[in-house]
Amino acid sequence: MSQNASIVVLVSGRGTNLQALIEASISGRIRSQIRAVISNKVDAIALERAKTAGIPTQVIPSRGVPRADFEAALSLALDTLKPDFIVLAGFMLILPPEIIATWKDKIINIHPSLLPSFPGLHAQKQALAYGVKVTGCTAHLVDAGCDTGPVLVQKTLPIFDDDTEETLSARLLPLEHEALINAIALLENQKILVRDRRTLLVK
Ligand code: GRF
Repeated sequence: MSQNASIVVLVSGRGTNLQALIEASISGRIRSQIRAVISNKVDAIALERAKTAGIPTQVIPSRGVPRADFEAALSLALDTLKPDFIVLAGFMLILPPEIIATWKDKIINIHPSLLPSFPGLHAQKQALAYGVKVTGCTAHLVDAGCDTGPVLVQKTLPIFDDDTEETLSARLLPLEHEALINAIALLENQKILVRDRRTLLVK
């Protein structure tokens, strides 16, 4: 990977994962530069975080427009920006197959469970409802499914008897930030071979 890979971050909400990436980029923990932040929601707090950091933002609304129009606009924005990686940081929509095919093995998502357990929404609530004693988070490459792509980094966390969805989510969040930073550092420093479902470091 080139000295300074470029990243486009897709967001929908508060943007703490984005914030962690911004700080990791400033401190040098990752060499990649965040070229732009794209939100499908006009009021996402993540947009303010990007602006504060001097990162260009774009809003491509998904609500009230035909999905095909939204997807075409997003695709055009990504084709124009030509990032090395796309990071989904609390981006709450499934990407269309065309974008996933164009950016194969270049899209990274962070999910708040140990996949393949508890994909989709409310992963922490799902973990509590199932009664597992250990959960965690997963940074993974994105494929055409929902939270099904090859795993890059996982971190684990014990669940306590008095945990609620809120306490568990709060304790998981710093682990998500670390997993995402670790995954990007991995991709920018190492060549990764994806064999079947496994991501292997090329020696
Ligand atoms: C995180 O829990 C992430 O794993 C999930 O959505 C949440 C986004 O948080 N996909 P933030 O917007 O990065 O604060």
